[in-house]
Amino acid sequence: MSNPYARHNEQSKANFDGVYDLPDPRGYFEALGALDYRAPEHGRRVFSALLRAMRRGGGPPPRVLDLCCSYGVNATLLKHDLILDDLYAHYDSKELTELSSEELTTTDAAFYASRRNPSPPEVVGTDVATNAVSYALRAGLLDAGTAENLEAYEPTGALRRAARGAGLVTVTGGVGYIWERTFERVLSSIMDNPPNGRPDDRTSPWVAAFAVRFVDYSPIASVLARRGLDTEKLSTRTFPQRRFENAGEREHVLRELAAAGIDPAGKEEAGWYHADLYLSRPAAEASEVSTDDLLGASEALDY
Ligand SMILES: C[S@@+](CC[C@H](N)C(=O)[O-])C[C@H]1O[C@@H](n2cnc3c(N)ncnc32)[C@H](O)[C@@H]1O
Repeated sequence: MSNPYARHNEQSKANFDGVYDLPDPRGYFEALGALDYRAPEHGRRVFSALLRAMRRGGGPPPRVLDLCCSYGVNATLLKHDLILDDLYAHYDSKELTELSSEELTTTDAAFYASRRNPSPPEVVGTDVATNAVSYALRAGLLDAGTAENLEAYEPTGALRRAARGAGLVTVTGGVGYIWERTFERVLSSIMDNPPNGRPDDRTSPWVAAFAVRFVDYSPIASVLARRGLDTEKLSTRTFPQRRFENAGEREHVLRELAAAGIDPAGKEEAGWYHADLYLSRPAAEASEVSTDDLLGASEALDY
């Protein structure tokens, strides 16, 4: 199945490859911040609400597996008393400008340690960007992390171990870079790899992914359905992801939306990529309460 995001990437999307794998995140926040990238802030609110819902019976929050985890941005926001704008302000601060990457990593480890939530979820991550994952581990942002490309290769043993028992799989800004093969391999890492090796302990995670609106998520939903997960799109709102960098991006996206019959009024037409939230859950859980009922009325999404 063709991936429209890959086509967009090749033809007209702003290219951030130069900032995805630096030794520290300053360049990433500078480049993405210049276009008002908001995806991790939406992730913070939605994933926190999901973790609260999943804990309703008490107990610790489930382990989170963040795909395309980059410098551990979603982990940072889930584990600390910080919002995305705090991270933009932090990485823009004058005091950090002169630090080497090593010095910054040490400074960040202390900065984040002092802002840690009292009972943070365990967050493990994977991304193709080796330096970014390494920074996130050394700054103490990820509990475990691996650098790999699941579109091209089978998961490493390290990822299979880190993924074991994960209850929530998350993605911001990554769908399109990752596609069906990654989701199949991630689900296999979790579900075919039960804690203690006992098939009865097999776990079915929830998968919460933001995808820009012109991307047809159905190939991924089909992969997840083969693993017993029902996918719903939140219908109560969409999520502004970032401003278009230029007219070429905008025109390409508007053409893709027109072809898909999606109305861009007030959203992409106003200059922003908008993302939908897709939530996939085991069929029995999904039939108990809809995604709209679970999240739509949540104050956390009322912004
Ligand atoms: C827009 S960034 C999103 C990062 C982070 N989730 C956030 O929202 O700030 C996209 C990320 O996808 C990663 N990526 C691209 N291709 C990938 C692949 N095949 N497998 C894993 N990660 C990939 C990049 O290295 C980059 O970190």
